[in-house]
Amino acid sequence: MSNVLLAVTGGIAAYKTLEVVSVLRKRGEKIKVIMTEEATKFVAPLTFAGVGNCPVYVDAFKTDQGNIIHTTISQWADLLVISPLTANTAAKLHYGIADNLVTMVALAFNGPKIAVPSMNVRMYESPATIRNISALREDGWSVVEPASGHLADGEYGKGRYPDVSDVISEIDRMLSPNDYEGVNVLVSAGPTREAIDPVRYITNRSSGKMGYELAKAARARNANVKLVSGPVSLKAPYGVETINVESAREMKEAMLDNLNWADVIIMSAAVADYKPAELSSQKIKKTADELNLKLVKTDDILLEISKNKLPNHFVVGFAAETQELMENAKKKLQEKSLDMIVANDVSRKDIGFDSAFNEVKVICKNGEIIPLQRNEKRFIAHNILDIVKSHRIKIS
Ligand code: CTP
Repeated sequence: MSNVLLAVTGGIAAYKTLEVVSVLRKRGEKIKVIMTEEATKFVAPLTFAGVGNCPVYVDAFKTDQGNIIHTTISQWADLLVISPLTANTAAKLHYGIADNLVTMVALAFNGPKIAVPSMNVRMYESPATIRNISALREDGWSVVEPASGHLADGEYGKGRYPDVSDVISEIDRMLSPNDYEGVNVLVSAGPTREAIDPVRYITNRSSGKMGYELAKAARARNANVKLVSGPVSLKAPYGVETINVESAREMKEAMLDNLNWADVIIMSAAVADYKPAELSSQKIKKTADELNLKLVKTDDILLEISKNKLPNHFVVGFAAETQELMENAKKKLQEKSLDMIVANDVSRKDIGFDSAFNEVKVICKNGEIIPLQRNEKRFIAHNILDIVKSHRIKIS
């Protein structure tokens, strides 16, 4: 649990910060909110207090139980997030102006800081704002770039508040240990699609959630992360280079293309084992009463990876099983020459495919077996990275 200080300045996106506060509250973080007077015109302090179940401060010249607010709060916080950051406050921060509670705290705080600029596109792209935001970066602020799209005033361009999950990812990164700094992690996730004809394909029930959580967790711990993703309905993780593929062949190419770059390879994708022997160039018509599809094996990507394994590589596979979990997983660990395999019972409805939860057993090359109790996939992802770290001598 960390002390997160949310600072809200006066932009239309102030209400988006409520979502950030809500997520942090659910995660059990300790929250305090500070606001400028202008911000209170967009969202009432009481709304933040209610959503965050937390204290909210606006007036810098009031004391809190006898304490001067800006110095006490800036010492309390582990992380400061200014969300949204207006052009006006960006300019003040650049010059160290301290004329309200938010700018006073920002000046007094010497821990990790995130800024989430959000404003009209012309204000965002004005030379002054560009100068101010780049000065903040130089001063050590992490800036979450605004998104492009329709803006509140009807214009179109860059300046929209980013996806809340991007802000949360950056908060996670700031609050997590940096124990994967400098490590290149290549993750595969999701199912593959093997085309039958231009409109039909064979696939499986993988949602990609476990692989996406692994990519996010590695990024949070400051790894460089590439994610090779089959077709899923998940948003590309913030700060992760995501390479979208469809078929097993495309996934194999993307994984092998990035193999020399990687230190840790985690193959959590549910790759199709078979594909149609022939791809019909036209939609197959329903003329016959029966239709037989001839399927042929796809290449085993993990086997290819093992054949091309470099000394720095640490290769992790997944075993999706509906029976004899441990025996089958151990067999795959050996046959595919893996460093570690994550055994996943996909027959259970409360974990596995499409669930936010998982419960797995990690089997290491040295025979060690580590059970990971049922938990949200994001925690399981961190547990897996902990085990990878302890079994990989180079990272420490
Ligand atoms: N895998 C792969 N290429 C394939 C099939 C699987 O790289 N063509 C990888 C998966 O990503 C996973 C591991 O191999 O990390 C085991 O996959 P799984 O589906 O559990 O087993 P299979 O090897 O396909 O064997 P089976 O279907 O018989 O259980």
